[in-house]
Amino acid sequence: MNKDTIEKAYTNTFGLAFSELVFSRVRRPVTVRQRTIRGRKTERTVKYTTLDKLDAVVQQCTGCALSKTRTKVVFGKGAKKPEIVFVGEAPGEQEDLQGFPFVGRAGKLLDKWLAVMGLTLNEVYIMNTLKCRPPDNRDPLPEEKKACRPWFDAQIALLKPKVLCALGRHGFGNLVPFEEGMSFGQFRLKKHAYNGVPVVATYHPSFLLRSPGMMDKVYEDLRFLLEICGRPVPPSLQSPDIKIE
Ligand code: URA
Repeated sequence: MNKDTIEKAYTNTFGLAFSELVFSRVRRPVTVRQRTIRGRKTERTVKYTTLDKLDAVVQQCTGCALSKTRTKVVFGKGAKKPEIVFVGEAPGEQEDLQGFPFVGRAGKLLDKWLAVMGLTLNEVYIMNTLKCRPPDNRDPLPEEKKACRPWFDAQIALLKPKVLCALGRHGFGNLVPFEEGMSFGQFRLKKHAYNGVPVVATYHPSFLLRSPGMMDKVYEDLRFLLEICGRPVPPSLQSPDIKIE
């Protein structure tokens, strides 16, 4: 039997696309526990085998009140098997309108960081710990963070990155316990962990837009990030000179 015949037979028998079937054999499904807020308190457990399936379900999420004020759910963008996942906190105005993370001014700066690291969206993935924009970019509430966490965990479990790069004190604080009064700087250039995945920290690109003098520290963090990944530091990251616009 050739591949097409096998594919058709599997599709007819199981009602699944062949690629899904093969994929589900090589990647263990991840389980998400969902709690509904609309009157019912039931929890249901759903298994996801692909990022696209998870995305489709997250698009319909009503797990917290942000679902009433959002324009679009912002799932993530980039490679499906990335080495590095960059993690911000929550979508801003442009992200909410367009449905993709880091597409505003801070996102343009993050693109430049990737370029000096010699990376593209074919090798990395970009996402937030929260999928929906808090109104007026206020800080997310604890119940909003809690409701979104199962999606975040499922996404990371499917992406299986080598390392997470947390952006800013909030993005980082959502992954690694971070007590009030602690300085963010003390967590830089160290390897932390979230659910067994190495985590490194750097400043948020929005912070750099306000404090461009901190860019040398970011370059240091990006070199450390590449080291953790086992990648060489390219000449473009030896003494970069990124212009902030
Ligand atoms: N800031 C974030 O943390 N995430 C975005 O997607 C955009 C800005």
